[in-house]
Amino acid sequence: MKNVLFIVGSMRERSFNRQLAKVAEGMLKGKCNVKYLDYKDLPYMNQDLEMPVQPSVARVREEVKNADALWIFTPEYNFSYPGVLKNLLDWLSRPMDMSNFQNPSAVVGKKVAISGAGGKNMTQSCRAKLTELLDFMKMDLMHEPQTGIALGMEAWTKGEFALTAEQRAELQKQADAFCAFIGA
Ligand SMILES: Cc1cc2nc3c(=O)[nH]c(=O)nc-3n(C[C@H](O)[C@H](O)[C@H](O)COP(=O)(O)O)c2cc1C
Repeated sequence: MKNVLFIVGSMRERSFNRQLAKVAEGMLKGKCNVKYLDYKDLPYMNQDLEMPVQPSVARVREEVKNADALWIFTPEYNFSYPGVLKNLLDWLSRPMDMSNFQNPSAVVGKKVAISGAGGKNMTQSCRAKLTELLDFMKMDLMHEPQTGIALGMEAWTKGEFALTAEQRAELQKQADAFCAFIGA
């Protein structure tokens, strides 16, 4: 079984992206152990806080390093990715051992997939910018397929959403490709 770490780019309790992650988790059942990264306690990136390494930073880096692969589920904020997700990725981009900048980060070469649920744009701009960022960080991104969900009216009124058959098929296709990509 592969160990997969899910990262949700929303801090919201009833996040639609967390709901989407839950459906994907079901699709990986029997092939992967899924855990969710809790990064609420990370400070804002501040180079004054890099040394000594803060316990919360060390913890998220360890969890990420020990995972076989990551899957990011994120909303789109103002045509881009949320600040909380960028903050996490900034912390992860730095060397695990800061005594030498040639030392690897926790994410170099790490296999990763991206999906998102949001408005009409289906998180397309967010995922395009995240693609640039993850490529820049030398992560091993599964560029295609991705899942982009446009939330229906019902989601906004109920606070919950159900995938349409078409959206479920799109997510299933990504889950299958992800398993093949990570060798699960
Ligand atoms: C600051 C902010 C900016 C937003 N900008 C966009 C946007 O550019 N495109 C979009 O589709 N939705 C945008 N939204 C709406 C989010 O997609 C929506 O709130 C979504 O449900 C958030 O995901 P979550 O339920 O996982 O928290 C924005 C929301 C916030 C709070």
